[in-house]
Amino acid sequence: MQQFDFPVYLAPMEGVTDRGFRRICKEYGADVLISEFISSDALSREVAKSFLKMAFAEDERPFGVQIFGSTEEALTVAARLAAEQQPDFIDINWGCPVKKIVSKGAGSAILQDIPKMVRLTSAVVKAVNLPVTVKTRLGWDSSDKPIVEVAERLQDVGIQAITIHGRTRAQQYGGEADWSLIGEVKNNPRMTIPVIGNGDIDSAEKAVAYKERYGVDAVMVGRAAIGNPWIFRQIKALRNGESCPEPTYEERVDLVMRHLRENERTKGERSAVLEMRTQYSGYFRGVFNFKPRKIRLMSALSIAECEEILRG
Ligand SMILES: Cc1cc2nc3c(=O)[nH]c(=O)nc-3n(C[C@H](O)[C@H](O)[C@H](O)COP(=O)(O)O)c2cc1C
Repeated sequence: MQQFDFPVYLAPMEGVTDRGFRRICKEYGADVLISEFISSDALSREVAKSFLKMAFAEDERPFGVQIFGSTEEALTVAARLAAEQQPDFIDINWGCPVKKIVSKGAGSAILQDIPKMVRLTSAVVKAVNLPVTVKTRLGWDSSDKPIVEVAERLQDVGIQAITIHGRTRAQQYGGEADWSLIGEVKNNPRMTIPVIGNGDIDSAEKAVAYKERYGVDAVMVGRAAIGNPWIFRQIKALRNGESCPEPTYEERVDLVMRHLRENERTKGERSAVLEMRTQYSGYFRGVFNFKPRKIRLMSALSIAECEEILRG
């Protein structure tokens, strides 16, 4: 079988990719990690919670801090503050479709004003001595998908990699990600920086097939990794031509306990237990008759209680 060698990124996901989860994904084979998005306005006002979101452990490297914003001042101040934490790169979020962010001109809103996107990106590149990367979408809506030109222009102002989610802002998360335009960016002879493909990678087979079909330098996995860090181990095995068995029930429980304890250290027990509630479906997907346990987990308030329910 053909050998594949390509990095796999864990997608930044607000409310999901906290330190505990990132470290587990790294251990299971994710090569590159990125923080949850951080508001440049909040960061430039030195809001404590934003600083916490930037924190990372040495074993998370290569690690990027992702910022979002809509003004040159806030973005450059935030980028400098992020750079002081010495991550490996700063990523600018030009893709978030959420109304609250878009209405302030940040995230994917910038896709309606490409000259501004280029100007602000250039300012961030100049503000820091670290590599700057961009994560964005194909365009604003189906009648406006300028990503090939956008990627060139961002490369010209000095970004060092681009991640493309194969949807428009109008699509939000609906429909199917269109990787053909991601492939077009990669195959543009003017492009020299790495192109990372993102959108709907939900199995090791798809990761390897899309890497091969579209020629991207790396793939990024988001939703399919929620409660399922094994996907990275499976991709790693497949790209070496090996297969990887599904985790046993005991392995799943061990990993949930590990995740709870990691988050207990960084956020306290209560937040760790409450936040885990959204992850059980992923961790126990396909496990026969898990529902009664899940119902009890939804009202558990301590780690010991969760363990008792899971192992009992
Ligand atoms: C719960 C959730 C939170 C997200 N938060 C972020 C974020 O903070 N920054 C970002 O660039 N993208 C964010 N995204 C988008 C993902 O990084 C990714 O681009 C998207 O989910 C498509 O990839 P997937 O099909 O593999 O999930 C988020 C997605 C989800 C589902």
